[in-house]
Amino acid sequence: MKIAIGCDHGGIALKPLILALLSELGHEVSDQGTNSESSVDYPHYAQSVCDLVASGECDRGILVCGTGIGMSMAANRNPKIRAALCSDIFTSRMSREHNDANVLCLGARVTGPGLAEEIVRTWVTTDFAAGRHLQRIQMF
Ligand code: RB5
Repeated sequence: MKIAIGCDHGGIALKPLILALLSELGHEVSDQGTNSESSVDYPHYAQSVCDLVASGECDRGILVCGTGIGMSMAANRNPKIRAALCSDIFTSRMSREHNDANVLCLGARVTGPGLAEEIVRTWVTTDFAAGRHLQRIQMF
């Protein structure tokens, strides 16, 4: 898959790990920044990633900020985006199986590196179950 990734200064600690994991799993990554610890505004990075997913240029997106909350709020303003803020493996799996989440949001100040890697691994390897879940996501 082609996966867009973006973070702010609060999320930068997780980004190198996620980039390495996605590459190990054979995915192509489009890194939309930020690339330093200088303070930036997360909505810009959320929008860059969501634009790539909404246009079909990327299959999915991953956004990381301090809590994941701001990124998920900003991402979900986009009609074609179903962003899921996940801090455990169960919600990561369900966000794919039941919600067909096309953007994963993580909080680098909430979720440690080992768990974050497993959340990402689960999220990129889990398929949408469709069926009754398809009707539901078509309702919004
Ligand atoms: C930045 O300090 C922080 O507010 C941001 O990373 C994020 O947690 C917002 O939701």
